[in-house]
Amino acid sequence: MWFDENYHRAVGTRDSPVVVVWSGGRLGSVLVGQISKHRRVIALGRGDLDLTHAGSIRRVLGAIDYGYLFLTAALTDVDYCETHPREAYVINAEAAGIVAEVSAEKCAHVTYLSTDMVFDGSSAVPYRETDPPLPISVYGHTKHDGERRVLAASGGNLVARVSWLFGPSRPGFPEWIVRQAASCEYPALPEDKFARPTYTVDLAEWLEALVFRNDEGPASGVVHLCNDGTCSWKEWGEACVDLARVRGMKNLAQKIRGISLAEVEAFVASRPLNSAMYTGKFSKLTGIRPRPWSEALRHFVIQGEAFRA
Ligand SMILES: NC(=O)c1ccc[n+]([C@@H]2O[C@H](COP(=O)([O-])OP(=O)(O)OC[C@H]3O[C@@H](n4cnc5c(N)ncnc54)[C@H](OP(=O)(O)O)[C@@H]3O)[C@@H](O)[C@H]2O)c1
Repeated sequence: MWFDENYHRAVGTRDSPVVVVWSGGRLGSVLVGQISKHRRVIALGRGDLDLTHAGSIRRVLGAIDYGYLFLTAALTDVDYCETHPREAYVINAEAAGIVAEVSAEKCAHVTYLSTDMVFDGSSAVPYRETDPPLPISVYGHTKHDGERRVLAASGGNLVARVSWLFGPSRPGFPEWIVRQAASCEYPALPEDKFARPTYTVDLAEWLEALVFRNDEGPASGVVHLCNDGTCSWKEWGEACVDLARVRGMKNLAQKIRGISLAEVEAFVASRPLNSAMYTGKFSKLTGIRPRPWSEALRHFVIQGEAFRA
């Protein structure tokens, strides 16, 4: 039990700096904004830390004093990963393992951002943390391997699985489908693929609540994090286009055509059909119940800059 002793002493103070390996990503930049409201954050972008170089990771992290680290950077283009498996493996799995090893030497807590794509999608009900991962893509395999390496480096580390991220810092699916609806009379989306969208603004607060708990210390193991409610890709797209109309955008396609996932020729990698995740464990740990994704989407569009006419 050497770990517990050292670990609580090392990460238990409010003043320990927090490293976010983010590289300007969709979640990373929102997370930096959220955590820096209360703590000192060291934000490392691609220019500071190249995850393809083990030596760079050891040198840069080795020189910093920190108590917590969030690893949000990853190779996230699922189809690119499928055709570049070695690069995906180096960044999503090997680099994550090295980050976790260096952090363990400092007794620092690591949160690794992972994905619903570690599941094969055959479940009829939302996945729980106890369900065995069974990835069906290179991306899913590399992220699952990253999870294992981070947890093996220290049992106190946290793996946060998320899905369908959207938010203010970098355009994602909502902006893409609204552009499609503006330029194409009959945009099409799969109606047989289901998941739970996740608002990065909410996610950043949930991660903070999990890691900076006052009495219990940082959460560990695997936790599923997403907004409440499951939807198909088509329903997710329709909600985005409807809100763009509310924002005053005109001449948008009236309807989104439902197709099957198998019909999307552009996809190289296989995707799970139903990768919705259950968030009961998170609620038990923090007392927070994620709001419905439709409410979070409305907040993003109405409060933010998205879909302005
Ligand atoms: N987006 C989703 O819907 C989704 C769903 C499930 C899970 N996740 C997971 O959630 C996390 C955050 O996702 P996100 O959407 O915020 O990702 P993102 O916007 O794609 O950001 C990932 C960042 O990693 C950086 N990166 C890539 N290769 C790197 C390297 N060799 N060295 C240093 N940095 C590198 C990228 O830099 P560049 O910008 O320079 O390329 C990018 O800024 C990821 O771990 C992802 O696997 C995301």
